[in-house]
Amino acid sequence: MIQLDLQHAHLKEDVKAYQEQVNQIDESLRMKTCKGNDFIGWMTWANDYDKEEFARIKTCAQKIQNDSDVFVVCGIGGSYLGARAAIEMINGLYAQKKPEIIFMGNTFSSSYIAQVMDYIKDKEVSVNVISKSGTTTETSIAFRILKQFMEGKYGEDAKHRIYATTDKARGTLKALADKEGYETFVIPDDIGGRFSVITPVGLLPIAVAGINIDDIMKGLHDGMGEYGDADLDKNPAYRYAVARRILQNEGYDVELFVNYEMQMQMIAEWWKQLFGESEGKDGKGILPDSVCNSTDLHSLGQFVQDGKKILFETNLYVEKPMIDLTFPSDDENLDNMNYLAGKSIDWVNKMAAKGTLQAHEETGGVPNIIITMPDMSAYSFGNMCMFYFKAIAMTTLMNDSNPFNQPGVEVYKKNMFKLLGKE
Ligand code: PA5
Repeated sequence: MIQLDLQHAHLKEDVKAYQEQVNQIDESLRMKTCKGNDFIGWMTWANDYDKEEFARIKTCAQKIQNDSDVFVVCGIGGSYLGARAAIEMINGLYAQKKPEIIFMGNTFSSSYIAQVMDYIKDKEVSVNVISKSGTTTETSIAFRILKQFMEGKYGEDAKHRIYATTDKARGTLKALADKEGYETFVIPDDIGGRFSVITPVGLLPIAVAGINIDDIMKGLHDGMGEYGDADLDKNPAYRYAVARRILQNEGYDVELFVNYEMQMQMIAEWWKQLFGESEGKDGKGILPDSVCNSTDLHSLGQFVQDGKKILFETNLYVEKPMIDLTFPSDDENLDNMNYLAGKSIDWVNKMAAKGTLQAHEETGGVPNIIITMPDMSAYSFGNMCMFYFKAIAMTTLMNDSNPFNQPGVEVYKKNMFKLLGKE
């Protein structure tokens, strides 16, 4: 279970003062009467998910592992970030597993698209195109290029190497997949993109990466109970939700997500989408930003310590590293580093975190929230999803906004389509 420590946040209000409001919102989530109530399928998904489809994901993942050097996942936003975040967190950054997972369909950069196509041209390839709407332009451009490549390379057999994850009945991608005879997986109607890593959107790529998806569902399921109580004393996700609102009332408009593990950087990107897209609307919300320390202590650290007091930090600590190392001794000690000989490098990382907390909190006057997860396992990923889902739903509803829509992202599309000459 995720632990929450608010002692370093120096909140000027008592979290418990919000219990009544939290009770009402929790009730509205349960009774499906809250704003955006069509999109709360994630709350019970760990019980409700389609078991037959789940088994099919595992079977397909095995086939893809056997017949592919590279698995290209083609999607953007919620149809990409969660899978990449989970795979990097759980497998690490240089996992030498087959197939290699490559992400595409998340950019209009011709340079990037061309580089991927060049990289995969002589390899055995399978493709997973993921789009709920089935019409997202970045994904559609990349997929047309991939489809033509696959047909050129494999002919008739291409259709046995292309997997489509989309709406169960609607949309261009669904129609195309049916016509071509691709294996398809369903994105549930009541789970929005940024909550969809726990559905086939995330689970197929994650399973292909060799990760145990049963463990993810178990963590998610346990999270339903652990973050399921309206009582603020018993629910760290809701305490976090309330603490954010208190800090915003105090004038902090930026939340800096801080972690100390390189393989968690995509978790920060996923979190930024989840929080920014859910909460940033109606002229309200906290801007989510992120750093990965200690590397960013050598860049943004200066601003956090000494700059304008617009931000609070939310640290995501991991108790147990994926791998630890012992720092070696050196007879000559020319670098004067022998004072650390025999020490664990993870211990050094943790001392850096402790020193930074003191510096930012005590000297810099920056409020710090601390979230601690036990490790970077598949189970912990599933559990963490429920923690953040519950937190963002509560904190956004406390702001009287709909956590589950994203009307703001349509504006650039309208302008772009006009410029592109789309009818
Ligand atoms: O959270 C969201 O809804 C968005 O980030 C979408 O996931 C993203 O725009 C991709 O949409 P689609 O899956 O329809 O291609």
